[in-house]
Amino acid sequence: MRSINTADSQAGAHPSQDEPAFARRIPEHRYQISGGLATRIAWRGLRNILRRRPVLLPFEVTRSCNCSCRHCQLGGTIPDEVQAGPERYRELVEAIQPAASQISGGEPLLRSDILDIVRAIKQSDGLPYLIFVSNAVLLTEDKYLDLKEAGVNQFSVSLDFPDDRHDAFRAYRGLFQHLSTLLPGLAKKYGFGDIVINTAIQRENLPHLMEMIDLARSWGICISFSAYTVLRTGEERLDIKAPKDLAQLRRTLGEIMAAKSRGAPVITPDPVLKRTCEYFERGSLPNCAAGRRSACVMPNGDLVPCAYFPTTAFDTQEEMLREFTSGNECGRCFVSVRAYTEQSVFDLLSGSLRTYLQRRRSRRAYSA
Ligand SMILES: C[S@@+](CC[C@H](N)C(=O)[O-])C[C@H]1O[C@@H](n2cnc3c(N)ncnc32)[C@H](O)[C@@H]1O
Ligand code: SF4
Ligand code: SF4
Repeated sequence: MRSINTADSQAGAHPSQDEPAFARRIPEHRYQISGGLATRIAWRGLRNILRRRPVLLPFEVTRSCNCSCRHCQLGGTIPDEVQAGPERYRELVEAIQPAASQISGGEPLLRSDILDIVRAIKQSDGLPYLIFVSNAVLLTEDKYLDLKEAGVNQFSVSLDFPDDRHDAFRAYRGLFQHLSTLLPGLAKKYGFGDIVINTAIQRENLPHLMEMIDLARSWGICISFSAYTVLRTGEERLDIKAPKDLAQLRRTLGEIMAAKSRGAPVITPDPVLKRTCEYFERGSLPNCAAGRRSACVMPNGDLVPCAYFPTTAFDTQEEMLREFTSGNECGRCFVSVRAYTEQSVFDLLSGSLRTYLQRRRSRRAYSA
């Protein structure tokens, strides 16, 4: 098992000065989500839905990883990986014009040109809304600020358990301790309201989801839930399908929705939580919109319908719609890319508005 350098976890290690560090480094438009940007995101999203173009375009910038998680087939370095440069990613963003993009992997912080990639994807009008998905092993205060300055809007940091079991699950010693120092430190020091824990619900962490919400609250950040799929590893023991597990899932999702209505910092919209329950109950969900509401870019710059079809590449999205989406009968995942982009237009717009307001609240609370 690998382990972490704890010295990197200290947010706030800079000597205190009159002017906050971020004010010198990050222009205001990079840390505020203005009403104007929120409107542009909503408008672009709506336009793309009407034109059958992806609302969300995730980039898997590498499939190498420094963890080796139990729910994921990735892990370890791919020495001969073919990686496209930032210019190829820019071309794809210009062609598809998504409202939002994810930078993910593998572990995106392993790319030495990650800041250039962020700058290439972020266009001059502030779009797409950019979500950086990471295990945060290599995240430090400086990297957080550099990524923010380059154009990241949201940091989505994966967390599977509310304690050291996270280390065992991810095969990385000290990772939970690192996160529990770094993330609340960044939230408190900068108050950008842009850090979200991302938890894939599976059978073993199901009893701990409410604790994870409490943990997020105590760290001053939000939490988002997605659904485990066996597609990556075939590991059935993490799946939720036994009647007693499904009963626990229904109960817990009900508790999460009730906690949300009392102000818990959960950003997953209720319709997504309900569909997550339906997905586990049925073992799949039909009518996947991969290729239409979302598509995915592989490390080599190939455009594919989703990360689970990494070799099904198309030259254009129109070709993908015709040759993949129209006949796609796969319904085997309900990960967040699918869950978020398949919402109704009304849910998508009102959910975005709620997330925007929640971020503003969170920013105000922690910058006070
Ligand atoms: C593939 S990882 C890539 C980014 C980064 N390495 C990380 O772990 O955050 C993206 C997200 O997928 C989740 N994930 C991995 N395997 C999964 C599975 N079998 N089902 C659902 N989500 C999964 C991870 O927990 C993580 O939140
Ligand atoms: S979930 Fe993320 S951190 Fe874990 S092995 Fe997969 S890519 Fe790596
Ligand atoms: S359900 Fe859709 S997004 Fe999920 S693996 Fe199948 S094709 Fe891909």
